[in-house]
Amino acid sequence: SMKTAALLVCLVGSALAIPKAGFVTLFLTNPPFPILLLDACRNFHCKRGKVCHVDEQEQPRCICQDPAACPSTKDYEHVCGTDNKTYEGLCQLFGTKCQLDGTKMGRQLHLDYMGSCKFIPHCTDYEVDQFPLRMRDWLKNILMQYYERDVDTSGFLTEKQRNKVKKIYENEKRLSAGDHPVELLLYDFEKNYHMYVYPVHWQFYQLDQHPVDRVLSHSELAPLRASLVPMEHCITRFFQECDGDQDKRVSLKEWCHCFGIKREDIDENLLF
Ligand SMILES: *[C@@H]1O[C@H](CO)[C@@H](O)[C@H](O)[C@H]1NC(C)=O
Repeated sequence: SMKTAALLVCLVGSALAIPKAGFVTLFLTNPPFPILLLDACRNFHCKRGKVCHVDEQEQPRCICQDPAACPSTKDYEHVCGTDNKTYEGLCQLFGTKCQLDGTKMGRQLHLDYMGSCKFIPHCTDYEVDQFPLRMRDWLKNILMQYYERDVDTSGFLTEKQRNKVKKIYENEKRLSAGDHPVELLLYDFEKNYHMYVYPVHWQFYQLDQHPVDRVLSHSELAPLRASLVPMEHCITRFFQECDGDQDKRVSLKEWCHCFGIKREDIDENLLF
């Protein structure tokens, strides 16, 4: 029947969010209840770390995700929290954070980086100075790689992005990818400054997705710490220094400033 079909759809859609044992009990002992329960929560959005639950008044409410009820994960889904504890996945981390809500520990717990916690060497002053040079170069090279791959199988870049990247890619003065000495990177930034403006904006746009609000939060910056970035152990220090007004968020202006982009070249219209 229609009702059964609707219930099945709900069941599938909510299977991850609702602890299985509780659901089965409700279902067996009180058949009409789960239909209400599932319907009230349907299309009801809860923020990260919370799941929808129907209260006694049959109103949907967001309650903390029980970390123990999170779906099981693979090793590569492990994440390291800012408490330097390894969580099995994002669900477990944000569920834990929610349960600590209102406490200092809860406020301080964020995603630090993808992967299990590991030893991260101290970042020296010398390295932190080099960081923007290396990262700028790395960003440009990543875009070049995406562009090359897109020639055969499109998908990495949108049409608009491809047009921007094409100009850089086809510029014969472009410094090729490689492990260059700092002096050369500095020289190239002076000489070919314009080639770096778009990649810096592009990376900001890639990270500014949860939510799209023109500032990068701690958790939006976290993916950068995934193993791809050279000198990743300097990221934390670098972004602390980037965050000029110390509001724990990096605005587009702060981001561009960190990478040496001139004020007049900071352009929200490049965020696509
Ligand atoms: C964080 O945890 C890892 C792995 O358990 C350890 O090697 C590292 O020393 C810890 N870092 C800090 C700052 O305590």
